[in-house]
Amino acid sequence: MRLSCCLNTKPDAKLIRLGRIYKYGLSGVRAGMPRVYSRSRSNNMSAKNFTLQNPETGDKVELEARSGTVGPDVLDIRSIYGTTGTFTYDPGFAATASCESKITYIDGAQGLLMYRGYPVQQLAEKSSFIEVCYLLLHGELPSQEELVKFDQTVRTHTMLNETMLRLFNGFHHDAHPMAMVAGVVGSMSAFYHDTTDIHNPRHRDIFAHRILAKMPTIAAAAYKHTVGQPFAYPRNDLSYAANLLHMFFAVPTEDYEVDPVAAEAMDLLFILHADHEQNCSTSTVRMAGSSGTNPYSAIAAGIAALWGPAHGGANEAVLNMLEQIGSVDKIDKFVAKAKDKDDPFRLMGFGHRVYKNHDPRATIIRGAYHKVMQKLGRQDSPLFELALKLEEYALKDEYFIEKKLYPNVDFYSGIIYRALGIPTSMFTVMFAIARTVGWVAHWREMIVDPDGRISRPRQLYLGPTERDYVAVDKR
Ligand code: CMC
Repeated sequence: MRLSCCLNTKPDAKLIRLGRIYKYGLSGVRAGMPRVYSRSRSNNMSAKNFTLQNPETGDKVELEARSGTVGPDVLDIRSIYGTTGTFTYDPGFAATASCESKITYIDGAQGLLMYRGYPVQQLAEKSSFIEVCYLLLHGELPSQEELVKFDQTVRTHTMLNETMLRLFNGFHHDAHPMAMVAGVVGSMSAFYHDTTDIHNPRHRDIFAHRILAKMPTIAAAAYKHTVGQPFAYPRNDLSYAANLLHMFFAVPTEDYEVDPVAAEAMDLLFILHADHEQNCSTSTVRMAGSSGTNPYSAIAAGIAALWGPAHGGANEAVLNMLEQIGSVDKIDKFVAKAKDKDDPFRLMGFGHRVYKNHDPRATIIRGAYHKVMQKLGRQDSPLFELALKLEEYALKDEYFIEKKLYPNVDFYSGIIYRALGIPTSMFTVMFAIARTVGWVAHWREMIVDPDGRISRPRQLYLGPTERDYVAVDKR
C-alpha cells in the first residue's frame, strides 16, 4: 500500500499539505521536499510506521500509524514540528483526526452511522431519544432502572430560573431564535457557576442533566417570545419530545393535548440528530472547552457554529430554497445555478464532508415521512413532492454524480418539522436541542482525555515581514 501527501512547492514555507493523503495515492513528490512514503518494512520499525524523509538532507522522521477499532488509521504527526521544524497544512481539517473518541463512528463511503457501536437505524426503530442520550453519555445502553432514573432526573430539571426567563424580554420580537438560544444558553454560565468545576465528575454530571433538561424550555421560550405568547411552563409528566411540543403550542386559554404521533416523530428526529462525531459545532465545543472555559459557554459556542447554513442552518435554508423553487418545472434552472461556479447558490441539503454515499439519516426521514403524515391524518405536502423530484433530478445529474453529492439529513428534516407545525426559523433550534447531548458527551470525553491540550492550530503566515512603523503624517 502506498501512502502519500501533496507537498508544498515553496521551499521556505516548511509546510506539508495533508488534505490529499487520505484521498489519493503517493504523488507530487518534489526533489528537496520532505515526503511520506510507503509503510516501512525495516526490522526495527513497526509495520504500522511511516517514514517522512527530506530527500535533500536525508533527515528522517518516523511516524506511527495508529489504528482505531474500525475505520482508517491515523498518522501521529505530533513529532514532525519538533524534528523537522515543519508544520502540516490541512484547511478545514479534511484529513486530520483532532482527537481520540469512543462515541460515534461514520463510514461515509458505506453511509453508516453508529452511536457507541449501535447502527442509527436500529436506534431509530427501537430506542427513544432519552435512552440514546444515556447511551451517548455513558457508553452503554441503560438497564431498566438506570433508564427510569436518568429520565426522571432530566424531567425534573426542566424549569428555568425566572430571572433567566426574563432575559428573553431583552430581545426584539423578530430576533432569530438561534440568536436568543445561543445568548440564553451562554447566560447559564452566570447562573450555575457554583457547580461548574470541570474537574469534578459530579459537577460534570449536574451540567449534563441541567443542559439536557433545560434546552427544550429555552427553545420553547424563544418561540413564545417570537409569537408574543406567554411562556408555557414545562410538564414533568411528559416525555422529552412531548414536553417540547406542549411548551411550544400550549396556551393558557385552552387545553392542549400532545399528539403522540407528533411526539414520536419529534423523538425520531432527535435520535437522528443526537451526534455526528467531530462536526463543525462539536469541534467548536471541544475547542472552546479545551481552554477550560465554563461548559455552558462552550455549548453556546457550539450553538453559534451550528447556526451556519453549511451546517445545521441548512434545514432552514432547504425549506426557503424549496419555496423559492416553487414548482417542478423550475428544478432544472436551480440545479444549473447550483452547478455554476460563478453563482454562490448551492443546492441546500445536498453534499456532506463525510458521506459520499446516502446519508442514512436522510433515508430514515424520507421513509418515515409518509407514515407520519398518514398517522397525523394529513395530506402529503407539495413541498415533499417537490423535494423528491429535486432529489431524483440531481441524482441523475453528472455534476452531482461525479462529486458524490447526495441529500443529507437536512434535506428532509425541515419538511417533517413543518408538518409538525414548527416554524421554519425554529428548525435549527430543533437541531440544537437534539445535538446538545452529543456536544456534552464530547465535552466530557475531552475533559478527561489524558492527551487533551488546549486546541491551538498553527498557520502558514503569508503577511508582511517585519517593518518599521511610519508616523501618520509620513504615510
Ligand atoms: N451544491 C452544489 N455544489 C456542491 C454542493 C451543493 N450543495 N456541495 C458541494 N458542492 C461542490 C462544491 O462546489 C465542490 O466543487 P469543486 O470540487 O468543483 O470545488 C465539491 O462539491 C466539494 O464540496 P466542498 O464544499 O469542498 O465540500 P465540503 O466537504 O467542504 O462541504 C458541505 C460539505 C455540506 C458544507 C457542502 O456540501 C454544502 O455546502 N452543502 C450544502 C449545505 C448543507 O446541506 N449542509 C448540511 C450538511 S448536513 C448537516 C450537518 O451535519 O451539518
